[in-house]
Amino acid sequence: MQIIAHRGASGLAPENTLKAMSLALDLGAKAIELDVQWADGELWVFHDRRLERCTNGQGVLTGQSREYLASLDAGDEERIPTLWQVMALVAGRCELHIELKGAHTAEPVAALTRRAEAELGFTQAHWIVSSFHHPELLRFKGLRPEIRIGALTASLPLDGAAFAETLGAWSLNCDVDFVDETLVADAHRRGLKILVYTVDEVSDGIALASMGVDGIFTNRPDRFS
Ligand code: G3P
Ligand code: MG
Repeated sequence: MQIIAHRGASGLAPENTLKAMSLALDLGAKAIELDVQWADGELWVFHDRRLERCTNGQGVLTGQSREYLASLDAGDEERIPTLWQVMALVAGRCELHIELKGAHTAEPVAALTRRAEAELGFTQAHWIVSSFHHPELLRFKGLRPEIRIGALTASLPLDGAAFAETLGAWSLNCDVDFVDETLVADAHRRGLKILVYTVDEVSDGIALASMGVDGIFTNRPDRFS
């Protein structure tokens, strides 16, 4: 079962910061998940729609200027990193699960993954691009069909893993609160991997592994190494 550091090693350092990414690499992570949003011509690695929980700033991230976002403290005096800064840090040393948060992300992520392959030692196989925003995910697939995509759901769909197959996904990424053996079997029957978020307890990890789950997103990669 693959272990994916969720927002970096976010149980040990401020989430989605370079410190969290660096710590995940130090812990030997083979894969890191991060969230990206588009604001003022830049891709920012940040989870929430609003800035208050994770920074000393205020407001909706996508409405802010580059100067303002770059000035904020994202915890432990870390800055909100850009996707390019994280890519430069990781430099092909592990897989990156890039989660598209909302609109206007597919095109810049397609462009930046191409540039990182040319300049930072990544290959196409290093990326898994995922989203709850299925139209944006489909847009990304149209731009870079050779890159694996992960179809996210926060619910248990009536038709099981069918939506992920329709999207042409490599994986179905689902919530630990809803995953069950029927969904795992349905995903596998359709040739899909099944990845589960967010799993911080080792006992939950063991139960999911025995259910046949292919990977987990965890804030505590240290517990699963
Ligand atoms: O990609 C797995 C997980 O990150 C999806 O949910 O809200 O933590 O981005 P969220
Ligand atoms: Mg995420």
